[in-house]
Amino acid sequence: MKVFLETMGCQMNVLDSELVGSLLRSAGMELVDEPRLADVLLYNTCSVRRHAEDKVHSRLGWACRRKADGKKLVIGVLGCMAQRLGAALPRRHAGVDIVCAPGQLPRLAEMIQSAGAEPGGSGRQIALDPPRAGKDARPPAEPLGDRLESLRDPSRTHLPGQAYVRIMRGCDKFCAYCVVPYVRGPERSRSPDSILQEVARLVDAGVSQVTLLGQTVNSYRHRDGGKTTGLADLLERLDGVAGLRRIRFVTSYPADFDETILQAMSDLPKVCEQLHLPAQSGSDRMLRAMNRHYGRCQYDELIDRARQLVGGVGIAGDFIVGFPGESEQDFADSADLIRRSRYRNSFIFKYSPRPGTAAARRLVDDVPEPVKRRRNRDLLGVQQEVSLAGNRELLGRTLELLVEGRSPRSRSPENRPASSGQVQMVGRTRTDHIVVFDAPDDLAGSYVEVEITNAAALTLFGRLRRA
Ligand code: 5AD
Ligand code: SF4
Repeated sequence: MKVFLETMGCQMNVLDSELVGSLLRSAGMELVDEPRLADVLLYNTCSVRRHAEDKVHSRLGWACRRKADGKKLVIGVLGCMAQRLGAALPRRHAGVDIVCAPGQLPRLAEMIQSAGAEPGGSGRQIALDPPRAGKDARPPAEPLGDRLESLRDPSRTHLPGQAYVRIMRGCDKFCAYCVVPYVRGPERSRSPDSILQEVARLVDAGVSQVTLLGQTVNSYRHRDGGKTTGLADLLERLDGVAGLRRIRFVTSYPADFDETILQAMSDLPKVCEQLHLPAQSGSDRMLRAMNRHYGRCQYDELIDRARQLVGGVGIAGDFIVGFPGESEQDFADSADLIRRSRYRNSFIFKYSPRPGTAAARRLVDDVPEPVKRRRNRDLLGVQQEVSLAGNRELLGRTLELLVEGRSPRSRSPENRPASSGQVQMVGRTRTDHIVVFDAPDDLAGSYVEVEITNAAALTLFGRLRRA
């Protein structure tokens, strides 16, 4: 059976797709890059904004038309949209055979087999996680199954030498705009032993950088009898893994950010000087309406503390523009926060009401689309100025990079290596800055030293010093 799997959304989905790939291969299926060659079409989906869901509906429209035209196909929706929409998906797209929520992915191979690709298949398969109506309707947090992780093929990671490792699932924060707590369920932390075993297997297979994933990764807390392991403890244990060179963790939640984590970043040599610390807004009024549980002042203090304790730390942010009620002054507060925080980079999103969330239920989406678009553009402009200024400070420095691979430019067929025999490569510094440089050959997965010679807002350019 040939399977095509397309991934939308965040790093958690990239990881889930990788794990699903291992699961399906171990069940004898083959993964292919071209949807037209596949018997099974799977979409690992994102619900965080309307736009992400629209894209999936259009893919499903295409897939279902092919099936209606007589092509024998199994069509599956995985991930957040599967959990959010459930049986409504096959009602809207009659060709959908499989709906599989994030927590049900370990069952996917059997679901595909039963769904009708094999003669005698029993038809449509819908596997959902327990519903979560709101904060108070929490199902008991079942122990986190590591079944997908246990089947992981450590030799196939999203980039050479790098791996994502999930340390927790779900979210309990219930930010007013966000669908994640509903589709990814309650917060559950994985046992440190299981995480360490997974990392050891990855390192044996050649991985030297791990990125620990959690929706609110600094809330990681595992209790075992009388012993509690927090993120700082976990980082300390991972720092001792021989063969591992870099440890990152994303995404951090600014409230209850325990200073022991900053201390661990400063003390532990393998923990990279990088934080993803979304503020969402610079206005206290908006932060309250968003149910973020911190104010502007507290956020500013956290950034100051991070800069004091972790020299040269690269901080990335997320912002939402056009949240209900956002005034020009609120918006100006966000621009001010970007300037003050000197982010390395920010992701900026236009507010998108998500059905079932507190904001969608209680607040009117009253910022007109053209205003959202303008604020989005203006905030990106502010961030670009800040990024460029930050990048220019790195001119002349020699930095260590972990090489990701060829740059998009040198991957395109019109840009084959010049006659010099050099290829354009891209890598990342410990602070997560992207650097492009020329090298004599493909150095993906290795560490190099590069002198920074030029700076743009999104990219640095460098000269190879040592491979
Ligand atoms: N509309 C727009 N952006 C959103 N995000 C989460 N929910 C929404 C929404 N409803 C953004 C937040 C979060 C990032 C992953 O997506 O900035 O940090
Ligand atoms: Fe969504 Fe807030 Fe949880 Fe992040 S912390 S996943 S924004 S609810």
